[in-house]
Amino acid sequence: MRNELEGDILKILVTEEQIKARVAELGEELGRRFQDKNPLFLGVLKGSFVFMADLVRACPVRSDVEFIAVSSYQNATVSSGRVKINHDLQQDITGRNLVIVEDILDSGNTLAFLKDYFLTKGAASITIATLLDKPSRREKAVTADFVGFEVPDEFVVGYGLDYSQRYRNLPYIGVLKPEVYTNSR
Ligand code: IMP
Ligand code: MG
Repeated sequence: MRNELEGDILKILVTEEQIKARVAELGEELGRRFQDKNPLFLGVLKGSFVFMADLVRACPVRSDVEFIAVSSYQNATVSSGRVKINHDLQQDITGRNLVIVEDILDSGNTLAFLKDYFLTKGAASITIATLLDKPSRREKAVTADFVGFEVPDEFVVGYGLDYSQRYRNLPYIGVLKPEVYTNSR
């Protein structure tokens, strides 16, 4: 079958095989850290949904999952750094050991906001697991405890990450061809 997405990809930064191997390692490390601690894996939607699904299956401890959906308020040119909750927690997180699961740590605005928010909701501990880290773009002093891959300052898509809600279903992390941004389709 013809792959409709492949033609839009300029280059692959992280292959499917590399992701698979790294997620297995992260799952083991998280498992050692959270044995007998009943962690709550808390995915930040939408971007984390693919990573979340693979990570929890790679982590052999008793745990449960929860999701929150957020977006940052944006004007035409730049993210304001303010975060809006589009779908809130559906359970009490008081006393829970949270593992926040993110697709990418970029400016840090989202995770800085969420850490504060979950602490006010009574979380006992907060651990951040992010598939990708773009440290060159940080505006807030946030560091992840578990990082899959560090990426350069390029806009990336795939494995949950989107451009304009597309490309989340690519099994690898890639960079789009410039014409994809200029052609409105
Ligand atoms: P923040 O800038 O650290 O708050 O990241 C906010 C959100 O922006 C992330 O959770 C992603 O959904 C999105 N994002 C940041 N960089 C990229 C990228 O390179 N590709 C796709 N989404 C991105
Ligand atoms: Mg996004």
